[in-house]
Amino acid sequence: MVDVLRFGMVGGGLGSYIGQVHRKGATFDEQARLVAGSFSRDFQRTLQTGQRLGLDRERLYRDHNEMAEQEAAREDGIDYVIICSPNYAHYAAAKAFLERGIHVVCDKPLTVTVEEAEELAQLAQEKGLLFAVSYAYAQCPAVKQAQLMVQNGDIGEIQVVMAEYPMGWLAAPVEQEGEVPWRTDPKQSGISNCVGDIGTHIENTVAYITGLEIEELCARLDNFGGDNRPLDTNAHVLVKYKSGAVGNYWCSQVAIGYDNPLKVRIFGTKGTIEWCQEFPNHLRVAKLGQPPQMLAKGQEYFYPQANELARLGAGHPEGYYEAFANFYRAFNGALLKHKQGLELTSEDLDFPDVFAGLRGVKFIHRCVESSKRGSVWVKFD
Ligand SMILES: NC(=O)c1ccc[n+]([C@@H]2O[C@H](COP(=O)([O-])OP(=O)(O)OC[C@H]3O[C@@H](n4cnc5c(N)ncnc54)[C@H](O)[C@@H]3O)[C@@H](O)[C@H]2O)c1
Repeated sequence: MVDVLRFGMVGGGLGSYIGQVHRKGATFDEQARLVAGSFSRDFQRTLQTGQRLGLDRERLYRDHNEMAEQEAAREDGIDYVIICSPNYAHYAAAKAFLERGIHVVCDKPLTVTVEEAEELAQLAQEKGLLFAVSYAYAQCPAVKQAQLMVQNGDIGEIQVVMAEYPMGWLAAPVEQEGEVPWRTDPKQSGISNCVGDIGTHIENTVAYITGLEIEELCARLDNFGGDNRPLDTNAHVLVKYKSGAVGNYWCSQVAIGYDNPLKVRIFGTKGTIEWCQEFPNHLRVAKLGQPPQMLAKGQEYFYPQANELARLGAGHPEGYYEAFANFYRAFNGALLKHKQGLELTSEDLDFPDVFAGLRGVKFIHRCVESSKRGSVWVKFD
């Protein structure tokens, strides 16, 4: 019997943004505990973080290589690693752990090049290791409900998708006011800032809800909001799906007055579904010839599979932390089963995996390529 999983972290030092969200999510259901880390490039920061989190000094490492090597050699070594360092550092760390037989959870975007993402996907498959990519919005009950409604034909054939993710935090030239955020630095972010950071969430959420596959896209990226910004802060993307449906995505970091309202609208032949991340417990549904309705998680009219992701009754707000907890409940559950030698079903594997990560990286590269070539249509595959 496998008891509780052990995990380590690369990135996520004290003061980082997403690290503490991963830690809470991974341990929410007492299926796993943190035992090791290389939380920062600065070893003193790693030591401080480890001390604060109550970890053994001997399991705090200078870098991911040292951690992968030493953890793989221990009898009580980690079962998986969570990588939540800036984008450029994902690939080398993921590769180091996969090569030593350690399962991986990596934040998005998976890597900075398509080739790196392909290599990780192949390596994970060859080694038979689980690999999740933390597009956690997909684990909100209302997003699952939207997916099930599409799958059950509740809104008919999808014809049009409109999705947006506007933020305003780069509207001012923050680089001139102090430290340059790593997201605007190509060495750390990769070839895109805005599409890589939030456009990729649009791509993943739409793909998860609709199952639509992109055939080709046409993008325009702009670097608004500061002098000589090397990377995009605003992007418009037209999409043609293999099914014949069409889509329109907009992401921005210069949209003053907006924080995190990722919004997806799916228009079908029989109805429309709308979900917005800032009101994550609700789903607006309009059926042809009927007045629009606001559905709420936790109510009996939600599909049971969607309500399984709700941890509280209807009306009690839940959101980002719970979505991460659901993501980890799925991943930890699958890994516990895998460790017992049991066969995993598609239901066990209902979380974004390395192929979703690879698709996200391809999306970023196709958008940049289209924009650079004068906003021409480019094939996705
Ligand atoms: N899934 C989501 O919704 C979501 C949300 C926010 C961020 N992210 C992703 O998470 C990653 C981190 O973003 P963030 O906002 O937390 O950044 P951050 O700057 O707040 O934190 C990054 C952390 O990584 C550490 N670090 C930097 N280089 C490292 C290295 N080589 N080895 C080990 N640690 C290193 C830093 O010291 C810091 O603790 C990014 O890839 C980002 O795209 C995902």
